[in-house]
Amino acid sequence: MKNFEFYNPVRILFGKGSISKISLHIPEGVPVLLVYGGGSIKKNGIYEQVIQALGTTEFYEYPGVQPNPVYEQLMPALNVIREKKIGFILAVGGGSVIDGAKFLAAAACYTGDDPWDILSKHAEVRNALPLGAVLTLPATGTEMNGNSVISRLSVNHKLAFGSTAVMPVFSVLDPEVTYSLPKNQIANGIIDAYIHVIEQYLTYPSMAEVQDRFAESLLMILRSTGSKVFADAKPDYNNMANFMWAATNALNTSISMGVTTDWSTHTIGHELTVLYGFDHAVSLAIVLPGVMTHLSMKREQKMLQYAERIWGISSFDHQAAIMESIRLTEDFFRCLGVKTRLSDYGIGAEVIGKVMDQLRSHDVNALGGAKDLTIDDIPAILSSRI
Ligand code: NZQ
Ligand code: ZN
Repeated sequence: MKNFEFYNPVRILFGKGSISKISLHIPEGVPVLLVYGGGSIKKNGIYEQVIQALGTTEFYEYPGVQPNPVYEQLMPALNVIREKKIGFILAVGGGSVIDGAKFLAAAACYTGDDPWDILSKHAEVRNALPLGAVLTLPATGTEMNGNSVISRLSVNHKLAFGSTAVMPVFSVLDPEVTYSLPKNQIANGIIDAYIHVIEQYLTYPSMAEVQDRFAESLLMILRSTGSKVFADAKPDYNNMANFMWAATNALNTSISMGVTTDWSTHTIGHELTVLYGFDHAVSLAIVLPGVMTHLSMKREQKMLQYAERIWGISSFDHQAAIMESIRLTEDFFRCLGVKTRLSDYGIGAEVIGKVMDQLRSHDVNALGGAKDLTIDDIPAILSSRI
């Protein structure tokens, strides 16, 4: 196992009714900026719960954060933050709203010319406004990590930054607030969380038994309980609670400690989203089988472990076992109603040059932390997904 330093100060307020506790964890006497998305929280009663919980706290609102949050839409909020002397940001929504709030928290304290540098030039984020989150969509893990992914439409880039300074002070995980999710967003959440685990697990052996077994248990739960949540005609509290907590643990970075992580599927997937507007999880479901197939020899040991422990496949023919596990993984995504081929979306070989151009435009040559993929591997991976 490699050396590591683990730091995760996010307070989790888990369970039904937990929104009511938020004001205990918001500093007294500072104006709060309530950031939310396109209005789902106004239809399902979450907005009222939050307003009630804020009580007499002075707060201002910044609605309209879009899925795959957009720099151009977020930037005007900095004026509100300055004018109203905002001292705390409260994000209520899915990954996009929370990521948008993290960007604002960092941008508000950024002393350079353009906060986009935080993403494009990896400008260090030392300070940020404190923020809290009420999560409404189990998927990204952003509620318990320091990452944020923002798109800038004018340059067609979707980039990530990470800093402990933007880790939420608290995150509320109330399974009941997810009951209004449409099935396609539940499927997205299961797939995104599943692939987060894969990105941190399916690389090279690191002799890290705790991380491996924890990752495997998350994969099993996301597969079994996730499928139940997807199939439930009426939301079941415990199924949702287990799915929600699994999704948070999938990317609160504990399973990435001391091991070789990847993230190449995410890197390619982000480009597909920028180019074609795919939901984040859909882009990953398309790309992952291609990455797995392409690396099946190099990563044979971990791939076999995945085939055996997650899918119960063992065979003297190692490559056959791995290929079967990849087929079953893709089937799992398709059973959640997600189409996994580029051709399913009317996209052909032209995608290859476009993705390569995108990656070159922000100087990506090697992909992922495992250092076994370069931009030259993209044509083979994508052509296998058409
Ligand atoms: O905007 P509203 O009206 O809230 O509607 C949203 C949105 O349309 C809706 N929704 C959310 N909660 C709901 C609900 N509808 C009904 N009931 C509820 N309880 O769902 C739609 C999608 O929301 P969004 O926040 O975009 O989805 P998700 O949570 O999947 O977030 C995706 C974003 O997170 C980034 C992705 O790249 C993408 O931009 N990621 C962030 C990561 C991180 N910070 O660690 C890691 C991930 O890999 C990912 O890259
Ligand atoms: Zn993801």
